[in-house]
Amino acid sequence: MDTTVQLAPASYPATPVWSYDGTIPGPVIRAAQGSRLERRLVNALKVPTSIHWHGIRIDNAMDGVAGLTQDAVPPDESFDYAFDLPDAGTYWYHAHTNSMEQVARGLSGALIIEEATPPDVDRDEVLMIDDWLLDPDTGLFIDDFAAPMTRSHGGQIGNLVGVNGRYDYRLPARQNERLRLRLINSANAQIFGLKLEGLTGWTVALDGMPLAAPEPVTDTLVLAPAQRMDLIVDVSAEEGETAGLLFAAADDTWRVLAEVSVKGRAASVTRGTPQPLPRNPRMEIVGVDEAPVLDMPLQGGAMRGLESATFDGQRMGWQELVQNGQFWALAGQVGLGKTPFATLSRGETARIRMTNDTIFPHAMHLHGMHFRVRKEDGALGPLRDTVLVMPNETTEIAFVADNPGKWLLHCHMLGHAASGMTNWIMVL
Ligand code: C2O
Ligand code: CU
Repeated sequence: MDTTVQLAPASYPATPVWSYDGTIPGPVIRAAQGSRLERRLVNALKVPTSIHWHGIRIDNAMDGVAGLTQDAVPPDESFDYAFDLPDAGTYWYHAHTNSMEQVARGLSGALIIEEATPPDVDRDEVLMIDDWLLDPDTGLFIDDFAAPMTRSHGGQIGNLVGVNGRYDYRLPARQNERLRLRLINSANAQIFGLKLEGLTGWTVALDGMPLAAPEPVTDTLVLAPAQRMDLIVDVSAEEGETAGLLFAAADDTWRVLAEVSVKGRAASVTRGTPQPLPRNPRMEIVGVDEAPVLDMPLQGGAMRGLESATFDGQRMGWQELVQNGQFWALAGQVGLGKTPFATLSRGETARIRMTNDTIFPHAMHLHGMHFRVRKEDGALGPLRDTVLVMPNETTEIAFVADNPGKWLLHCHMLGHAASGMTNWIMVL
C-alpha cells in the first residue's frame, strides 16, 4: 500500500513509500523452525507485484519470481503464500516483480525463523540496513529507478543510509548486556563495510546458516546487498560512551549507522565466547571434488561491455543491447532465457565457477538452495545464499541440487539484475 514515512531528518519532507502493512521496512515476521508460514499478499498497489522469501529453502511454487515461478499479482488481486520452514535463521522477504523499483520504494521486511533452543542472549534485535536516494527539497525518491547510468555502473546508491526505516536508529541497552543482532542488507546496490564500537562481538551465522564456530569480530565486516549476518555482542561501553554499529561512508570516514545508547548496567557475568547456534538440517555438501564444474562468466557493464550475447532469443551486439536497456550477461545470456543455464538432477552436487570479467562487484544470489564457496585448494566456506564476487575475481560455488524446480541465479544489485544479470537453473 501507499503510505508516507519520515525516513530523513526533519528538514526533508516525509517520503511517500510503498509498504507491506504500512511500515518501512515491512513487519518483522517471526515463526518457529519446522512450522508452516501462510501469508496472503493483497495487492493494493497500482502495479503488479509478487513476494520472494529470500534464503528460504522453499517450495518452488512459492518462490515469488514473476515470470518464472508465478505470474505477477495484478492490482486488487491476491496470492496466498504457504510454505514450510526447514531452517532457523535470519531471512527476509521482498518484492520480486520489477524489484529494482519496488524494493527501492520500500517493499521488503525481515523474516526470522526461530530455533527451538535460542542462544543465551538478553535480547534479539533485527537491524535492517538500507539506503535511500531522496531529493532533499521534496523528500521524494529521486525517481529514476531505471537510470541507465546507475544500472550500467555500480547500481543505485542512496544519499541517506538507515536502519529499520530510520536515519537515526537507536537501540537502548545496558552495559554488560548480551544482544543478538541480526543484520540484513536490503539496499539495492550498496556494499556496507561495518564495524563495532563499544561492543565485543562474534559472528554466529551468515545468510541464516549457523557457523560451525562463532568467529570473533576483529576486522571490518562486509555485508553485500541481500546478505545477512547474525552477531552476538556484549555491550562493553559504559553509559555516556559511544557504542553501536558503524559504517564506512563514501568519504572513508566511519559513521554511526545504528547507535547503541547505553544507560545503566546489568550485573556483569562472564559468559565468554558464545556457543555455536544449533545446526540446520541438510548442511552437508558431499562429493564436491568429483562434481562437474559449470562455467558462468559475469560480463558487461560500463568500461568493459560485451561483444555479443543472447537476449530475447536473439544474438545481439553491445550497441543493440544498450538500445534495449541491457548491459550485463551471465554465461552469454542476458536476462531470463527459455532454456536454463543448467539442468541438474535432484540430489546431484554441482559447482558453478563465476568469473567476474567486469569492473564492478556483483552480489550473486542463488534461489532455493544454499551453497559453499570452494577455494582453490578444495576447502569449503560457510553456507551462504549470496556471495560477493569482486572485479577480476573467480568464485566457485558448490551446492546440492536437492530442491526441485526453476531457480533464479542473479546479481542482487537490483539494477544489474534488471538489465541482464539474471539466469536460472532447473532441478529435476
Ligand atoms: Cu532477494 Cu531473487 O532475490
Ligand atoms: Cu551486479
